[in-house]
Amino acid sequence: MISDNGRERARRAAEAMRRFIKSRWEERDATLFLTDRPAPNRKRPSAVRAPAGQPGRSLQPPAGPPAGSPPYRPVTPPKVAIRSGPAPSWTPRPGPGAPPRGGAPGPKAPQGPKRHPSGIIEPESSEKGKALLALYEKIKDCAGCPLKATRRHLVFGMGRADTPVVFVGEAPGEQEDNQGLPFVGAAGHLLDKVLGPLGLPRDRFFICNVLKCRPPGNRNPSIEEMEECEPHLFNQLKIIAPKYVVALGTFAAQSVLKTTKPIGQLRGRWHRAGDFEVLPTYHPAAACRTTQFRKVLEGDLALLKQRLEGAGAKSSS
Ligand code: URA
Repeated sequence: MISDNGRERARRAAEAMRRFIKSRWEERDATLFLTDRPAPNRKRPSAVRAPAGQPGRSLQPPAGPPAGSPPYRPVTPPKVAIRSGPAPSWTPRPGPGAPPRGGAPGPKAPQGPKRHPSGIIEPESSEKGKALLALYEKIKDCAGCPLKATRRHLVFGMGRADTPVVFVGEAPGEQEDNQGLPFVGAAGHLLDKVLGPLGLPRDRFFICNVLKCRPPGNRNPSIEEMEECEPHLFNQLKIIAPKYVVALGTFAAQSVLKTTKPIGQLRGRWHRAGDFEVLPTYHPAAACRTTQFRKVLEGDLALLKQRLEGAGAKSSS
């Protein structure tokens, strides 16, 4: 006969074991997804693929907004000091006349100045804008790799050419492919939520990806795709000539810094790469998954704010 006390003890032990196993799975998950993800190392070709049985590209949140969810609308940013001009609003990109794949078009875009179809804000207003637009025109029908066959839109980037900061992500996901704009899905919303309170709304900067086209099923970029697409990113950076580059996640950090080190070793400090300084941090998709990584992302992006304020203070003295 088991006493009530014994039964209670057994129940508690089982509960503790369940909690322990859950926490280990979460840890494993976070490690797999965030820290030491295999490098897109040219010498380790198999490393960039998602492990067998894993659902696609791991930096993407697995359960993003469902297909056909309303198009991206930016989080309203608070007022801050570093703004250099009126904040434009952009309209969601409808694509060449077609509704998003898998659903009806979202609600009508808010009224406001029209964002250029390239994603560049007011490209004609500066020499850099014009040069960036010329690059867009050159690559918008790129057929440099097999992703052309499966993409809906080439996602060039979004934001201002005249900016001190460029954010670089990994590759478009489903929402981005549908709308032709970077970071308009769950990861992008999270990024806006982190940047907003820091007074760094994204429409003052430029944001793009290493890969301009979506890998099917959000799988990891392949080495060949990275090699084919990186020159477009480097050309964007050459034109914009930002002071700072924020590399979001393993692929961006390794690509911009030309390293194979894991993001866990790179993040949270400034690195020099040619003419600009690079701040690697976790991918916002990671921060969608755990509060721990969201806090790290917030802390890392606060370093960007410090730099911008420091730069502002220096240039105004
Ligand atoms: N993840 C990325 O790396 N880039 C995007 O544009 C969207 C999600």
